[in-house]
Amino acid sequence: MLKCVVKVYGRMLKCVVPHRVLAAGLTALVFMYLFLKETSPPPKRLELLTKEQYEIISPSTYKHVFNQPGLCEGKNPFLVLMIPVTQEDSETRAAVRSTWGQENLIPGVNIVRLFFIGEPREPSARRDLRKENRTYGDIIQMDFLDTYQNLTVKTMMMMNWLATYCTSARFAMKIDADIFLNVPYLVRHLHRHLHEEDFITGSVIADARPRRDRQSKWFLPEDVYPHNSFPPYLSGAGYVFSIDLARKIALASRFVRPVPLEDVYVGLCLDVLRVRPVFSWTLLPFRNLFEVRRLDYDRCTFAKRIIVTGFTPSELRRMWQDFRDSGFTC
Ligand SMILES: *[C@@H]1O[C@H](CO)[C@@H](O)[C@H](O)[C@H]1NC(C)=O
Ligand SMILES: *[C@@H]1O[C@H](CO)[C@@H](O)[C@H](O)[C@H]1NC(C)=O
Repeated sequence: MLKCVVKVYGRMLKCVVPHRVLAAGLTALVFMYLFLKETSPPPKRLELLTKEQYEIISPSTYKHVFNQPGLCEGKNPFLVLMIPVTQEDSETRAAVRSTWGQENLIPGVNIVRLFFIGEPREPSARRDLRKENRTYGDIIQMDFLDTYQNLTVKTMMMMNWLATYCTSARFAMKIDADIFLNVPYLVRHLHRHLHEEDFITGSVIADARPRRDRQSKWFLPEDVYPHNSFPPYLSGAGYVFSIDLARKIALASRFVRPVPLEDVYVGLCLDVLRVRPVFSWTLLPFRNLFEVRRLDYDRCTFAKRIIVTGFTPSELRRMWQDFRDSGFTC
């Protein structure tokens, strides 16, 4: 019941709203919000790719040269680090193994490291990886050509590998080899999302558009991608997700036409799944924890980031030594 007092001279309307009515109104608003949140935007019409289109990214098209099928068995890794490299990058792999890629870095936290490799373009660049594979057991190689455009194929190879051999893991991270990764900070951060599904975080790019000029490294012709914008996606430098998403992204890829931009491609799959990638940030000061600019090494700056982008193997080793010697803190 609404009681209103009308002040004739002041032309004012004053209403006293009983609490019951107020509570009912608020409840209705909350339901309306939840309803709208669930129902909009309208569902997309999904179309399966043709056989030819799907073949490009299908796991059954390529064969493993090296695989580690038993790696996760009985292990329940907390985190799987998936690092795309080329066969030639042996120095990079060595630097990652002796810095943030060490599997026993944090006592009691099981971290698995894996390098994903394709076939080199130049047959003369072929290396015999058998010894490296035997020593470290961290190499997964498939027989597609290892080119920039085929990074999408490589990323789907990672998702399929996780979905096939490592569903006992909790989280997985795709991370480039030239990155500084603050493993202790990442592990602490992930503990806050332990029981979440459909969780994926990194540096979110929300306003990107396809480049239509042929000169661009990121050129995307309209017949491959007709839309004028991309859904939000995560910078490919490094992103982390709950393990359930590996299988879901692999399934979604049956509906998403391959584009040669691997980070956009994962974003398109997330869009099909209606999973929103989330930023990881701190307030006061506002800080994106996945730093995609290059910053000069400073212990106190780097202690407050999860990743920082763009270092050579020797820079990584030098920074890491200082960072580890200070106990991973400021
Ligand atoms: C690679 O290394 C793993 C683990 O050491 C081993 O089980 C596997 O047989 C090796 N693969 C090849 C093709 O040599
Ligand atoms: C991707 O890999 C396939 C299989 O090796 C190869 O035929 C194709 O040329 C590669 N694509 C590009 C654009 O490099």
